[in-house]
Amino acid sequence: MDHLDTLRRLSRALTDPAHAMTDLVAEATALRELLEHCSTLSTAGGMPVNADASVLDSGLAISPVQAALCALQPYRTIAFIKGLHAAIGTVLRAHERVHVLYAGCGPYALLALPQMALYGEQVGFTLIDVHDESLRHARALVDSFGLGDCVDAWVCADATHHRIDPARPPHVIVSETMNAALRSEPQVAIFRALHAQAPAALLVPERVTVHACLLDPARELSPPVPDASVPFTPPQRDRIDLGPIFTLDSEALAAWCALEGDELPAAAVRVPPFGPAQQARLLTKIDVYGGHRLDDYECSLTVPQRLPGRMPVAPGDTLQFSYRLGSSPGLVCARV
Ligand SMILES: C[S@@+](CC[C@H](N)C(=O)[O-])C[C@H]1O[C@@H](n2cnc3c(N)ncnc32)[C@H](O)[C@@H]1O
Repeated sequence: MDHLDTLRRLSRALTDPAHAMTDLVAEATALRELLEHCSTLSTAGGMPVNADASVLDSGLAISPVQAALCALQPYRTIAFIKGLHAAIGTVLRAHERVHVLYAGCGPYALLALPQMALYGEQVGFTLIDVHDESLRHARALVDSFGLGDCVDAWVCADATHHRIDPARPPHVIVSETMNAALRSEPQVAIFRALHAQAPAALLVPERVTVHACLLDPARELSPPVPDASVPFTPPQRDRIDLGPIFTLDSEALAAWCALEGDELPAAAVRVPPFGPAQQARLLTKIDVYGGHRLDDYECSLTVPQRLPGRMPVAPGDTLQFSYRLGSSPGLVCARV
């Protein structure tokens, strides 16, 4: 079987609605191994993995090697591939060809290749990455599968400065340029810049929600790296959900259009009485698209995070959150 056939077989399995995320770890692993095998990038090296990262005015752009290593997280790969597949399917009900803008494709174009293998020339991707090296590896990889006709444009640029051709706006904008609790990396700034130019485009992920929560870390017991052969039983957690404090979706982006400056609004929460072992944390929920989602601990993006500045909290406190844009983006929090 040649590499394109293998890519097609794995992509078919990964996007099959009959298979749940938990059943697809072997396929996600095989996809990563296939891309590693076919890629011109070597992830084995003596340099620190983030030596080639760039600090942009919108946040940290991780290095080509670190971007490749994201494929080591199977649930992240599966949920994003399934979600993007569903979004393209939605657009295809009304259009013959779907234009997808992929901001931050990394060296593997990991989310795009399965769609190209399945949809062929029904999809036309604009692939953007700020790192020329990532884009070069991605291009060599796409060409090695003979899928170059599924790419309309290769763009080496900071996606927050990318100008969309108003005559040909994308139907789907996909970006996976985030970290847990939307800190450090430029997901918010990228969606804000691109959605303002193409407000009708479907977003992948369609919603990222950060919740505040009180939890007992000893009763969380994050699961090990997913292994299909070991069923995971979640422990009895001890949590008090304080509700969503920040949401990134098309409604929020539309509401922020008129805002200027480097701060976006977020919610305030009042801290109720809580147990001696409980601590404040931020939880990240990612609705990729069409019911495909990433929940707590399913990948590094959804691991609970301490409050910004590790701020101590007490019952009765009111915490006012906001989102700071700029080269070190993220939620900030003040006691009011
Ligand atoms: C987490 S990686 C995602 C890689 C790819 N989605 C994958 O799963 O393999 C993020 C990628 O986005 C790129 N990136 C980050 N910020 C960017 C920006 N402002 N404009 C363009 N690319 C950006 C990084 O260079 C990196 O390749």
